[in-house]
Amino acid sequence: MYKLTFGEPETLVPSRFCDNFRFVPSSKSMKYPAELIEVSNTARGYNLYLPCDDGEDFYGLGLQLKGWRLNGHELTMRVNADPREFTGDSHAPVPFFVSSKGYGIWFDTFRYAEFRFGGIRNEKKCISVSIPGACGVDAYIFEAENITGVCAEYNMLSGGGAKVADWGLGTLYRCYSKYNSDQVCDIGQYFIDKKLPISMIGLEPGWQSRAYSCSYVWNKDNYPNPEGTVTSLRDMGYHVNLWEHAFTHPDSPIYEQIKPYSGDFTVWGGAVPDFANKNAVDIFAGYHKEKLVSLGIDGFKLDECDSSDYTGHWSFPHCSEFPSGFDGEQYHSAFGILYCKAISKALGDNETFSQVRSMGSLAASYPFALYSDLYDYNEFRRGVCSAGFSGLLWAPEVRHASSADEFLKRLATAVLSPFCLINAWYCEEAPWKAFDCETEVRNLLNLREELQPFFKTAYDEYVKNGISPCRALVSDYTNDIETRTIDDEFMIGDKLLAAPLAPGENSREVYLPLQDRWKDYFTGKSVPSGRFIYNGSGIPLYAKI
Ligand code: GAL
Repeated sequence: MYKLTFGEPETLVPSRFCDNFRFVPSSKSMKYPAELIEVSNTARGYNLYLPCDDGEDFYGLGLQLKGWRLNGHELTMRVNADPREFTGDSHAPVPFFVSSKGYGIWFDTFRYAEFRFGGIRNEKKCISVSIPGACGVDAYIFEAENITGVCAEYNMLSGGGAKVADWGLGTLYRCYSKYNSDQVCDIGQYFIDKKLPISMIGLEPGWQSRAYSCSYVWNKDNYPNPEGTVTSLRDMGYHVNLWEHAFTHPDSPIYEQIKPYSGDFTVWGGAVPDFANKNAVDIFAGYHKEKLVSLGIDGFKLDECDSSDYTGHWSFPHCSEFPSGFDGEQYHSAFGILYCKAISKALGDNETFSQVRSMGSLAASYPFALYSDLYDYNEFRRGVCSAGFSGLLWAPEVRHASSADEFLKRLATAVLSPFCLINAWYCEEAPWKAFDCETEVRNLLNLREELQPFFKTAYDEYVKNGISPCRALVSDYTNDIETRTIDDEFMIGDKLLAAPLAPGENSREVYLPLQDRWKDYFTGKSVPSGRFIYNGSGIPLYAKI
């Protein structure tokens, strides 16, 4: 890895808040032609113009669900829960792109940087990077044989991939929000009776006395004996996760304490804690540890820490001010990561695999997976491919479906993904019960169990060498031009390749890279490399021979 400093970088930048930040300069000389980079510093901000070639393909910039190759696109790294088009808006935008030429560049900024891939400036094709309000930036360049190696280096910059709890590799289930203690325990018992392997039960907003904003206090009507409920679930073999967000309701026991360390705007009447401030973290994490983790809670779902520009502007505005000096734009980019950090402090040594709805730069070492309220199947599958370019883990969660086929296809994709989640928060009963398909659901959950050793090995690699557990084909097979457009197949670890079918499909084109030899995972029969049509209602899953 290499570092280039341009102009006068800002002081509130991601690297400063990353405890495991480890810049290890490469001893090899850099191949990237940094001398061709041009810059300008205007009233609008700091701009860089990077060289680019014809035939060069670009990927990344965080969790991008709406599009694939970055070529020809203008993308703004704006935190947004409801992206409409391929504009860069994302739960987790990251100013880090990778190139098919075997390099990647990350910009150390929380600003909503704008990227334009392939504009013509002064008769030269370039990538323009514009950082509003900045007078300079540190850029980090990574080089490797393929994109997987480039991304691994980026992940190592923040201390390597997340160490996740083994139980987090199973199937995780979130219950109907309005369930009470008995109903939660009943559904736990139903999974046991029906031999449906579920390793975690998550409680949604109904566990709290106030949820929008949050009190972090149990709703005594539904949960008269929280400790008893958590103990019962744990005795049944479940890990327990609680939904929340950080906007703190005036009724919360920590409200008065945390208010002075919060932003100047409220959200849903709640304070917005400044997690860049040590006091805010100590108060928030201390309370969670003492009142919730101590009961046996070993995971949290950190909701609403993104923002929305298209659905009601419910979060804090960009002009907000925080005690640590962040403005609203910077804090939106930092919020998810800092929230994960605060909650990790509350969890202490307890291993977890939790959830968060926003992340950003230098996220790899946090055991948190991203999720969304969006629900387009193709976008969810694409997310598994795109998250791996930026040190992120993505859950293509399953909620409702309109048919057994749709439910099972969605579940199959979840079973093959880095985080296997059924999020039934608005479903009064387990969502597959609407269809006659319990046996098929059981088979899929058993498949997840069977695949756990593959995931375990993949996550071990993530921790040690920064290699993302699931990756697009172009990431591993960067020099194979056929892989460049494929956003619906992905690698699991270094042995398996998944090409899940979409709802309604019983056939699809599959590409198995020519560089390797392959067999069908289920039958063990060898399958010729290259393009072919998969026909059938099973799961296109292949293993390297
Ligand atoms: C949403 C979240 C859902 C669910 C819901 C509960 O913000 O994305 O998964 O938790 O809140 O109100």
